[in-house]
Amino acid sequence: MNNVIVVASGKGGTGKSTVCICLSVALVKQGKKVLLIDCDCGMRGLDIMLDIEQEILFDASDAVCGNCSFGEAVYKSKHNENLYLMAAPFDAENELSPSVFTQLVDTVKDNFDYVIIDSPAGIGSGFVTAAAPADRALVVANAEPTSVRGAVKVRNKLDTLGVTQSRLVINRFDKKLFKKLGFYTDLDAVIDAAQTQLIAIVPFDLNISVVMQRGAAGIDFGKHFSAFDRLSSRLQGILVPLELKGMI
Ligand SMILES: Nc1ncnc2c1ncn2[C@@H]1O[C@H](COP(=O)(O)OP(=O)(O)OP(=O)(O)O)[C@@H](O)[C@H]1O
Ligand SMILES: [Mg+2]
Repeated sequence: MNNVIVVASGKGGTGKSTVCICLSVALVKQGKKVLLIDCDCGMRGLDIMLDIEQEILFDASDAVCGNCSFGEAVYKSKHNENLYLMAAPFDAENELSPSVFTQLVDTVKDNFDYVIIDSPAGIGSGFVTAAAPADRALVVANAEPTSVRGAVKVRNKLDTLGVTQSRLVINRFDKKLFKKLGFYTDLDAVIDAAQTQLIAIVPFDLNISVVMQRGAAGIDFGKHFSAFDRLSSRLQGILVPLELKGMI
């Protein structure tokens, strides 16, 4: 299996959790069984974004402490057949160590086609834990210098941790804003600066934000999410174009 994927970024708020949910829904739509693991310990949010906040009794730390079985810490999405969530510990002091988290993922991963891990921003201990079991990584950045610098830092750290297959997701791309800011001549310049091969560009789209905040990704996953359908295909090695029409 080469399908344990950590979603990371240097700067906060680039869209990691959004990418985790939307990519997972897209994979499920393409017939895959997916486990999402929230590894943003103390700041978890995927349970809200999936609208199953009220159902979570046990989290990843309960599973490893023996407060519940591994299966009892895995919750099925209400709206997506084949989409499951393991929540992050609610309190930051219950952060798992990289070795314990790796054992946890090793125990559950064979029940799924893909395991998608949401990481906290930055390259601190929470990120190191999130990346520990990963076969590959998605580095999420916005097309602005502070975010791109963060992407380089994360990518370099992933390399030192042995996660050498990183791909760049440029999220919240807005052509007008990009041109007005004028930091980069074109998208190639962003990719060069990020020093990471591009796998997806997701446009800025208020519909994405609204659907996420409403926990409705499983219900309302229409044309606004086509970038995630393509990301899902490309991750599976299906060569679909990036679809840059209107972006440059
Ligand atoms: N493509 C997009 N278009 C519009 N809004 C977006 C897009 N992607 C994410 N957002 C919005 O940006 C905000 C931050 O997204 P999100 O919470 O996924 O980021 P994050 O990287 O997980 O943040 P953190 O570092 O705090 O965990 C949210 O309000 C989300 O709805
Ligand atoms: Mg997040």
